[in-house]
Amino acid sequence: MNQQSIQNELNNSLCYNSDYVTLNKREMPKITNLSNKIERQLPGELVTFIQRAGKTAASQGQGLYFVGGVVRDLLLGQANLDLDLVVEGNAIELAQQLAEINQGKITTHPRFNTAKLQWNKWSADLTTARSETYAKPGALPTITPGSINDDLFRRDFTINAMAIELNPSRYGELIDRYEGRDDLKHKLIRVLHEKSFTDDATRIWRGLRYEQRLDFQLEPTTLKLLKRDIPMLDTISGDRIRYELECILQEEFPEKVLRRAEELDVLKWLHPSLKGNGWLTEKFVQVRRISSPNPPPVGLYLAILVYPLTSEETEPLISYLRLPKSSAQTLRDTINIKAKLPALANPELSPSSIYRLLHGYSLQAVTANSLACDSPAARQHIRLFINKLRYAKPALTGNDLQKMGIAPGPQIKEILKLLLEAGLDGKVTSKQGEVELVEGWISKGKE
Ligand code: CTP
Repeated sequence: MNQQSIQNELNNSLCYNSDYVTLNKREMPKITNLSNKIERQLPGELVTFIQRAGKTAASQGQGLYFVGGVVRDLLLGQANLDLDLVVEGNAIELAQQLAEINQGKITTHPRFNTAKLQWNKWSADLTTARSETYAKPGALPTITPGSINDDLFRRDFTINAMAIELNPSRYGELIDRYEGRDDLKHKLIRVLHEKSFTDDATRIWRGLRYEQRLDFQLEPTTLKLLKRDIPMLDTISGDRIRYELECILQEEFPEKVLRRAEELDVLKWLHPSLKGNGWLTEKFVQVRRISSPNPPPVGLYLAILVYPLTSEETEPLISYLRLPKSSAQTLRDTINIKAKLPALANPELSPSSIYRLLHGYSLQAVTANSLACDSPAARQHIRLFINKLRYAKPALTGNDLQKMGIAPGPQIKEILKLLLEAGLDGKVTSKQGEVELVEGWISKGKE
């Protein structure tokens, strides 16, 4: 065999899954190279970008890596354009040069030494490699600059703790110190160490989210640790829990995560009256159906989730999660409309009465009630409001009324309201009809 055929033989025997594997002679570890996957799965423009970024980093004497979700999803063959890059050195310095090269702009956070780079329609987050320590459970970590290995060790799960080298000399090589690739293969969610959930209990919610999104399982020890550390959720601020909840509600099937959270007694940590049951699944499916082709609004999902609560139960949840004003209002409206359902269920209800009962509430709250209420009559009335009544307005305007001799003031508003109600109930059907109605009221007032 000549030299070339020995080399070919070696290459062939080491090829699998279209990633190529080479041997490092000194340590003999397997090196998996994912450059083919990068090229196949990422848009050409991004491939060019990361190759250039790798070269630029090398010219600055820095190391550049893909980390986290993008690596996981490349290995899973799933699209992920969230480019998370770790720089061994100084992320801001690299981002500045990349912004020049790509005619992009950067937003920097010097305190954390991170930068966001945006160019054309793309963006990438650059973080300086760091190690993290937790002064106490649930506290934000203390950060010190570190190596890529330190950076991977600070991460939540093995499947999220892999990196890909982007510097030209090792471009595409996978760094997988915690056997994340094996866990991907066996569909397992596994923490890196036994204090992971204690350090950061948001990982409890994250673990459930990945498990359900990917159809994986929590590896048995991880599951034990998760159950042990559920009380640690109390160490996490409401803001961070709200963020996790929002992430869940943006999943394709959030109800799966909420179901699992109920099963593991995590959901009741949010509020003891919340339910992750079959009812919720059925309603979330309906939310998706009525929102399609758009993504279902998080606020609508949240209103449905909170629906079983009373008004007294909703308020503490709103404060705990520090919900923004408009989301808090949607939840309050949802519960207030629920209290009006007996009135809305009256089959004799006139359109103007339906309007009066529902007008002024947030549309998401009204919609949540149309999906969640169990009275068919109430549902029909709410739908009539959503599809038709809420758009109604009188043909006459305030100006028209003044021209007819009505003095400016609260009476204008009152007359417009009466005209609207007359229109809703079919008592008047044209502008001329409204004029006659108002003239009638004026002459009656003169008598
Ligand atoms: N991370 C972590 N612990 C957390 C939050 C994040 O270890 N509490 C790490 C994980 O390695 C994760 C990365 O930071 O992969 C980026 O976080 P995020 O963007 O939330 O996760 P992705 O993996 O990108 O997940 P997703 O697909 O949901 O965007």
